[in-house]
Amino acid sequence: MTNTHHHDQRPVLVLGGTGKTGRRVAARLHDRGVPVRIGSRSSAIPFDWEAPSTWGAALDGARAVYISYYPDLAAPGAPEAVQALADAALDRGVRRLVLLSGRGEVEAQRAEQAVFDSGAEVTVVRCAWFMQNFSEDFLRDAVLSGEIVLPGGEALEPWIDADDIADVAVAALTEDAHVGELYELTSPQLLTMTDVADALGRATGRHVGYVPVSVDDYTAAAAEQGVPNELVGHLTYLFSEVFGRTAYTADGVQRAIGRPARDFATFARDAASAGAWDTPVGATA
Ligand SMILES: NC(=O)c1ccc[n+]([C@@H]2O[C@H](COP(=O)([O-])OP(=O)(O)OC[C@H]3O[C@@H](n4cnc5c(N)ncnc54)[C@H](OP(=O)(O)O)[C@@H]3O)[C@@H](O)[C@H]2O)c1
Repeated sequence: MTNTHHHDQRPVLVLGGTGKTGRRVAARLHDRGVPVRIGSRSSAIPFDWEAPSTWGAALDGARAVYISYYPDLAAPGAPEAVQALADAALDRGVRRLVLLSGRGEVEAQRAEQAVFDSGAEVTVVRCAWFMQNFSEDFLRDAVLSGEIVLPGGEALEPWIDADDIADVAVAALTEDAHVGELYELTSPQLLTMTDVADALGRATGRHVGYVPVSVDDYTAAAAEQGVPNELVGHLTYLFSEVFGRTAYTADGVQRAIGRPARDFATFARDAASAGAWDTPVGATA
């Protein structure tokens, strides 16, 4: 009998495997009986984007890699780092690469091209903004405070659920039909920030309002609150050049796994039931 993926005991390396998407990818692989190796600075075999000398040990013997770059594919040097990682993977006999990417980012699209050009079996998941930014990341405290202060104007964004991203990524990591595909992942609805705040308010049973501000006021306030300069610069870029610039939905979830993407209200209700906003400001959910 030929050695099918099912019997393949080599692990899938999940980069960022403790983050918003990576930990969901790792959990799903585990549930399917696929061996997983987490690749992050704190994992058993440490992986650090800043230290290419750590990459070889993480890649050795892996069958596939889920590539989530940190902090963001739009960061300076990101496309080059991702290209180097893809080359290192192929050098070590890792054939399959699934890249987590973002919509509307020139640098992210350069990274996608580099991975497609590597010669590996590649799938790209090009994502809208993550719903879990509100439950597990930099916008959680805003939800708890009742005021989401952002330079989002009246722009429309089709937020994507990280659970959908993980479902698509796991299909691409474990099934052959997704090789060469670029899946654009969004939810089925375009929402303004006011819509988002309303949905979070209904789900949490608190008042959550949206307070639009200018990019300059937003970054000035962030800097005043001690947010590191690099992150402030990054947020400036995201809100002046990325947010709301891809105001259309896409069918990547349906195309990849044959079911519709989850909508924001469902995410918010499920996250509230799971206790995402139960612990105090500043604490991790
Ligand atoms: N948030 C959005 O709305 C959005 C939208 C589209 C695309 N994206 C893309 O999503 C990616 C981030 O994915 P995510 O949100 O799932 O991750 P995340 O939640 O930001 O998680 C960060 C992960 O990266 C690890 N990490 C941090 N610094 C690292 C380093 N120097 N080297 C290696 N690993 C490091 C962390 O573990 P350790 O601390 O143990 O290292 C953790 O596992 C970015 O490339 C971004 O461009 C995000």
